[in-house]
Amino acid sequence: MDNKIVVITGGSSGIGRALCDCFIDADYKVAIASRSEKILEKVKSDLSSEGHEILTVKTDVRVDNDCKNLVDKVIEKYGRIDVFINNAGITWYESNEDGINIEKHREILDTNHFGTVQCTKYALPHLLKSKGSLVGVCSIAGEVGLPNRSAYSASKFAMNGFLSSLRVQYLNKGLHVLITYVGYTSTNIRKIVKDDYKSSQFPPGYGETVKEKGMMSAEETARYIFNGVKRRKRYVRPTSVGQLTVWLNKLFPKLNDKLAAKYYN
Ligand SMILES: NC(=O)c1ccc[n+]([C@@H]2O[C@H](COP(=O)([O-])OP(=O)(O)OC[C@H]3O[C@@H](n4cnc5c(N)ncnc54)[C@H](OP(=O)(O)O)[C@@H]3O)[C@@H](O)[C@H]2O)c1
Repeated sequence: MDNKIVVITGGSSGIGRALCDCFIDADYKVAIASRSEKILEKVKSDLSSEGHEILTVKTDVRVDNDCKNLVDKVIEKYGRIDVFINNAGITWYESNEDGINIEKHREILDTNHFGTVQCTKYALPHLLKSKGSLVGVCSIAGEVGLPNRSAYSASKFAMNGFLSSLRVQYLNKGLHVLITYVGYTSTNIRKIVKDDYKSSQFPPGYGETVKEKGMMSAEETARYIFNGVKRRKRYVRPTSVGQLTVWLNKLFPKLNDKLAAKYYN
């Protein structure tokens, strides 16, 4: 088989869905995984009406056996994995009034961090065989603590540490590890939080179309990630605000704390 194989968790929406198109355009065979069968079927039928074949596997990355099943299904159909993208994720906004919500912390760590760990556990032997790319869709919040996102930041710092460690561990085995420090991107991620949790005190415009419009598009973010895979980069950090935040945090951390407190809401 000539085509390379990519697996994208959370490939049914936002950045994952846009990544799907990038890899299809580059002649990859694509497998996507997420929880909603209905949305997976919709993506499959949209793509098949354009003449593209795609494998969809209903998966909850919080469930170890689902992650195993995802990898098994891909290997059964295609026999190999060249790129595995840990993209499935959720966010949360903790207002000062709400305080720290332990249940939410567990849910977010389970999805963003343990989802990555579990999927990687099953994909890794195949990536080592193909000398392929292990990708994490992380966040600026995984490099710098952002206000009112302690659960989200913790999950992305954890994911960052996990993938950074694997990169060094398998340095001489041909494994490529790409960590993508994504900045604000217009997707459903914040709208979902707002719709699900109506009592929280959200900052003005949170998850609303008008604010999302000022953000990078999912297609642009996906293009940066795709190019990072192609060039076997260590990391990509698509937004200029994200770049600035991380560099200011390294050079002038106290100033960055003040700016982050003011502007990251
Ligand atoms: N948008 C941003 O501003 C931004 C910034 C930095 C980083 N990121 C990261 O980018 C990644 C993609 O987010 P997005 O913005 O594209 O959000 P999105 O449009 O809400 O897409 C999230 C995807 O993840 C899937 N998902 C959520 N929980 C899952 C679970 N337990 N198991 C399997 N799939 C699950 C969703 O499908 P189901 O709900 O059907 O499962 C959906 O396909 C996330 O890791 C996020 O943290 C986003």
